[in-house]
Amino acid sequence: MKYKGIVFDLDGVICSTDHYHYLAWKALADRLGIYFDESINNRLRGVSRMASLDIVLERYDGTLSAEEKLAAAEEKNDTYRALLRQMSPADLSDEVKQTLDALRAKGLLLGIGSSSKNTKFILERIGLGDYFDKISDGTNITRSKPDPEVFLKAAEYLALAPRDCLVVEDAVAGIQAAHAAGMDAAAIGDAVSGGLAEYNLGSFSDLLRCVD
Ligand code: BG6
Ligand code: MG
Repeated sequence: MKYKGIVFDLDGVICSTDHYHYLAWKALADRLGIYFDESINNRLRGVSRMASLDIVLERYDGTLSAEEKLAAAEEKNDTYRALLRQMSPADLSDEVKQTLDALRAKGLLLGIGSSSKNTKFILERIGLGDYFDKISDGTNITRSKPDPEVFLKAAEYLALAPRDCLVVEDAVAGIQAAHAAGMDAAAIGDAVSGGLAEYNLGSFSDLLRCVD
C-alpha cells in the first residue's frame, strides 16, 4: 500500500456545508451593507473564520475594531451553527460512508484535518462522531491552510510520518498545505481545477484507486 493513513478535509470533502457558510456570511454581510456572492464565498474555502471575515470585509466601507470583528465572527458562527443543526446522518452520502469503510478495511488509519472549529459538532450531526481515528481541527492550530500545521498535527496524532499520509482536499489552499507538510494530495471538487494534486477525484470513491 502506498500510504498508511488518509487525512480528510471535512467541509466540501466528507460533507457539504458550503451553502450554510454562504447563508451565514450573507446574513452578516447584508446586515453590514456589504456585497457578498457565491464567488466571494468560494474564496473562503479552507480559510479560517477570522481570515474569512477579513475577506468579507474587503468590500466594507467602514472599519471594525478588533472587538467588533470578534463579535461579527461570533454572529456569523451563531447563524452557521443554527443551520448546522438541520444536518443529520442523511447528509452523509452512501458513497462517502462506503468508501471510508473500504479504506479502513484495507488497514488504513483515517484522520481529519480541517480548519473548522465546528468539526466535532458537524461529525456528530452526520453520525461520524466516533468514526475517525484522530481529529486535527481549528481548535488545535494557530495557522490556517496553506500552512501545513493542521496536517502535520493530524500525522502526529495518527503517529505516522507525513510521507505516509495522503490528504483529500477540496481547497487549493489545502492542497498547498498538504504539499508543505510533505504529503501527497488528492483533489476533489473545486481543487481539481487548480491542477496541483497528485490525484484528481471525479468522485469520492475514486480514492480507492489512489491507495493501492
Ligand atoms: C473550513 C471551511 O473547513 O473551515 C472554511 O472551508 C471555514 O470556509 C473554516 O471558514 C473555519 O470554519 P469554522 O467552522 O471554524 O468557522
Ligand atoms: Mg474544504
